[in-house]
Amino acid sequence: MCGIIGYTGPDPALDVLVDGLATLEYRGYDSAGVAVVAPGGNGLSVVKCAGKLSNLRAALDGQALPGTTGLGHTRWATHGHPTDNNAHPHVDASGDLAVIHNGIFENYADLKAELAADGHTFTSDTDTEVVAHLIGALREQTGDLADAVRAALHRVTGAFALAVIDRRDPTAIVAARRAAPMILGRRDDASLLASDVAGLIAHTRDVEALLDGQVAVLEPGRVTVTDLDGNPAEGHRYHVDWDVSAAEKAGYDHFMLKEIHEQPRAVAETLLRRTDADGRIVVDELRGGPAVEDDLRHVDKVYVVASGTSYHAGMVAKYAIEHWARIPVEVEIASEFRYRDPLLTPHTLVVAISQSGETSDTIAAAVHARDQRAKVLAISNVVGSTLAREADAVLYTRAGPEIAVASTKAFTTQIVALDILALYLAQLRRALFPDECRDHLARMDALPMLMQQVLEQEPAIAALARQFAGAGYVMFFGRHVGLLIALEGALKLKEISYIHAEGFPAGEMKHGPIALIEDGGPVVALATRGHVRDKVVSNIQQVKGRGAVVLAVATDGDTEIKQHADHVVYVPEVHELLYPILTVVPLQLLSYHIAVVLGRDVDQPRNLAKTVTVE
Ligand code: AGP
Repeated sequence: MCGIIGYTGPDPALDVLVDGLATLEYRGYDSAGVAVVAPGGNGLSVVKCAGKLSNLRAALDGQALPGTTGLGHTRWATHGHPTDNNAHPHVDASGDLAVIHNGIFENYADLKAELAADGHTFTSDTDTEVVAHLIGALREQTGDLADAVRAALHRVTGAFALAVIDRRDPTAIVAARRAAPMILGRRDDASLLASDVAGLIAHTRDVEALLDGQVAVLEPGRVTVTDLDGNPAEGHRYHVDWDVSAAEKAGYDHFMLKEIHEQPRAVAETLLRRTDADGRIVVDELRGGPAVEDDLRHVDKVYVVASGTSYHAGMVAKYAIEHWARIPVEVEIASEFRYRDPLLTPHTLVVAISQSGETSDTIAAAVHARDQRAKVLAISNVVGSTLAREADAVLYTRAGPEIAVASTKAFTTQIVALDILALYLAQLRRALFPDECRDHLARMDALPMLMQQVLEQEPAIAALARQFAGAGYVMFFGRHVGLLIALEGALKLKEISYIHAEGFPAGEMKHGPIALIEDGGPVVALATRGHVRDKVVSNIQQVKGRGAVVLAVATDGDTEIKQHADHVVYVPEVHELLYPILTVVPLQLLSYHIAVVLGRDVDQPRNLAKTVTVE
């Protein structure tokens, strides 16, 4: 979603801003812009345009916008089309202020009408321009930019991270946030801000996440944080320990391919140090408060809430926690959960899963649950993220930075984290014998090596991708944990290849979706060994009988499946609940190679954003 970068310090701002925007490109955007203020109150330069950063570079055409304080923005359109006019930064009526913003000001139409009645005219369709005018008008009344921002924010509703610069104070940036990420970077000679730490780590690793309702004034080497009423406040300070190379492609053509291949290592990290000397499962993160273990022992219901790929990972909790820990589990899309009236008590555990920890729907669901006194456990990949801070406890997936919009290593590490949680709950509640828990966990230690074996089949999968790339529609089906991989396989394919793809419970095919099968139409079936394997084979026969071309994902040694499927990709044999961690890998590779054959923008597919910070 929108990327924000800001700099005030000794160096020319423009290069810092454009380089910073490049590191945030992965978030997904459809226009870009920069604003720089020159010293001596001489000028505010704004350059912005629709399209990729290369368009902005072309529009800048080698100009060196003078000034050492500035803002940069990549916009993911919410109000109005992705046009030059709608791109950020937006200026106020005086032309002195430039504003960038991530999020949605929900009452912008009322504010716009009010400002228009006072003679303001607007050049864009955006909510951001309205708030730029509002801040500008209040700046005339208060005489101080930070006071004007605080006053304006008392009047707006919605979620936002915003930053403002002012020609009349050319070494300061005012920033604020409510329910959208804004991270500040501190250095002795400069201060920076960004919508996520990836934009800052080239400059500093000492960062401070602004908290909801906080306003910061950044000057070179100095940051002052207040609440919305101007009282002194402090954000969440932490040190970033991953390095820049972790966020580079390392010789792969795309971040997505690199991240697919990083999965064995990422899963090994998630599994690291999960047992004590007696072989008991330990989850250090859940020892945080003395109450946590006791709370978990008394949980009588689990809700899992998440969005997109994280929701598919969350589905595994229903199978694993119900099977191993014997606690009822419901898995729900976060944006639905928050708007109904779920029955939550202090004995309800809500597991909120989010790679970024900044997905607005998932954060809102977690906050809703916490307000109802349920216990909230976050599973996130980003240390210090908003979701992590809002939760009672956090289980980190330790996958390392995930840059490609299409999530891969986050997904497999989330499943591993959920399996660990399920076994931990089983151990705490004595639903399994200690040696059973130990054995299950020990089996998981083999997963990185087994994933590596699946990855080695990439050339064969790439060849299959060439055959599937011409398809207009691909169906995926599976049963039990195969279902969540059918859903995830379809999501991956549609996200990056733009081929229409849907996943179904295999048993549901005959209740409707089978009508879509046409001669030669591709179907992907999850048919690994287990108690539903033969049922899936029956479903394969049903679609084959209607002309489908079937690719089955099956267990090593299952030669019989070749009688039913046209193509087979094999994965090693594992415990039934662990298959998703292996079976998703060929489907990730299949989607990747189809997208490459079709010439798609694999890492930044159209219309999508890495982190969805709006509703
Ligand atoms: C994954 O490929 C998607 N881009 C998307 O569905 C993503 O998983 C979803 O937006 C949730 O993101 P989160 O895990 O950061 O909360």
